Amino acid sequence: MRIFVLSCAIALILSVSSALATLTNAQRLARGLPVLPPKFARALPGYARTPTAAGANPSTSPVPPKTYTGRILVKSYDGGTYGHLYNWASGINGINFGSSSEDLHVSFTVSRSGKGLIDIMAINPAFTGPSYIGTTSNDTLAKGSPTAVSFGNVIRTPVHSPPVPVGQYNADESAIWTFDPTTYELKAHYVNLNGHKAGTTIAYKIYDNSIFFVGDIGAYNAAQDDPDYLVSPITFYLDLTG
Ligand SMILES: *[C@@H]1O[C@H](CO)[C@@H](O)[C@H](O)[C@H]1NC(C)=O
Repeated sequence: MRIFVLSCAIALILSVSSALATLTNAQRLARGLPVLPPKFARALPGYARTPTAAGANPSTSPVPPKTYTGRILVKSYDGGTYGHLYNWASGINGINFGSSSEDLHVSFTVSRSGKGLIDIMAINPAFTGPSYIGTTSNDTLAKGSPTAVSFGNVIRTPVHSPPVPVGQYNADESAIWTFDPTTYELKAHYVNLNGHKAGTTIAYKIYDNSIFFVGDIGAYNAAQDDPDYLVSPITFYLDLTG
């Protein structure tokens, strides 16, 4: 008899607790019971619905940088196309008006945001020596100043570095470029010897098909006595074709 009562009591407790286990949290709250921890929906094949997997969701993880390869298209200040950068045996400069086999091909890597200064590497150099492209002299560029710095192949230098002397005649900066992943424009940002970034315009002298950088194109042109030496601003764009 005692055993029967005890087993009835156990059966009652078990049935009550199993009934309680099937209550929704709303019903449990209504009865003053503690809520149960949430259950995760059953995972579909390949979709592990666990908190760990949710943390690895691609929309929240950092996006890797992207590498671009192509030629540099030179455009005039009014948007007209001149041609691609020339890959000379003596270095990089000027616009290639000849066969496209003499176009310079470059490669660079940028963050997906497009922010930050980058190095641009020549990948088919016709020249010997360092294979980045950047500034090769160390004058100070400024508004109101006619000074210029030259353009060519350079060693790799740190971001925000002033010109680094190379040999007897050169002072190099490579990490002067920004790339806009929407417009594909490449802009130059030369750092003066004092460590400050200068407003930098890419200048083109049609007279000798030369490209260099100035801080004030008006001041540069005002200082020329020969009209042949006047320059105009140009812009660089990455061209993925070819
Ligand atoms: C500027 O560049 C020239 C050529 O490399 C170098 O001789 C000179 O020391 C540089 N000036 C400074 C202040 O670094």
